[in-house]
Amino acid sequence: MKKRIETYDPGETEALGEEMGREAKAGQIFCLSGDLGVGKTVFTKGFAKGLGITEHVTSPTFAIVNEYEGRLPLYHFDVYRISCEEEMEDTGYEEYFYGEGVCLVEWAELVKDLIPEDAIWITVEKDYTKDDDYRCITIRQEGEA
Ligand SMILES: Nc1ncnc2c1ncn2[C@@H]1O[C@H](COP(=O)(O)OP(=O)(O)O)[C@@H](O)[C@H]1O
Ligand SMILES: [Mg+2]
Repeated sequence: MKKRIETYDPGETEALGEEMGREAKAGQIFCLSGDLGVGKTVFTKGFAKGLGITEHVTSPTFAIVNEYEGRLPLYHFDVYRISCEEEMEDTGYEEYFYGEGVCLVEWAELVKDLIPEDAIWITVEKDYTKDDDYRCITIRQEGEA
């Protein structure tokens, strides 16, 4: 599966996240990749809303992982500050990745080796030839049966 979506303001990216959050299933892992300030957390806020989470979602930059209760539990990782695999192990990520909740990992490309094959990758990119608020979002799932 590969899908390409263009958004023209933060609300559209949030709405896409919300739609995917509504459809998310237990055990799925969503990997968000893209530069700082591209909209990963904007997407995540929508995603959380779609999972029925009413709590305010912020980027867990220092905590590495935040947990939220919704229709399913959401484990929101931001691994930007992870510098080695050992540090990632300290978060107990395996329990989350192979658990019954939904995982969403910002900066997942930094821990690519630890991400299960069937994870869903969402890449957000700007295009400097276009408007500041333009984003190109690519969704793909490789290990899909
Ligand atoms: N189309 C868009 N989609 C998402 N965010 C956008 C868009 N256009 C502008 N923005 C802005 O880009 C910023 C994205 O921030 P954030 O989601 O925290 O980035 P990241 O988590 O990737 O570092 C926000 O200030 C948001 O308002
Ligand atoms: Mg972020």
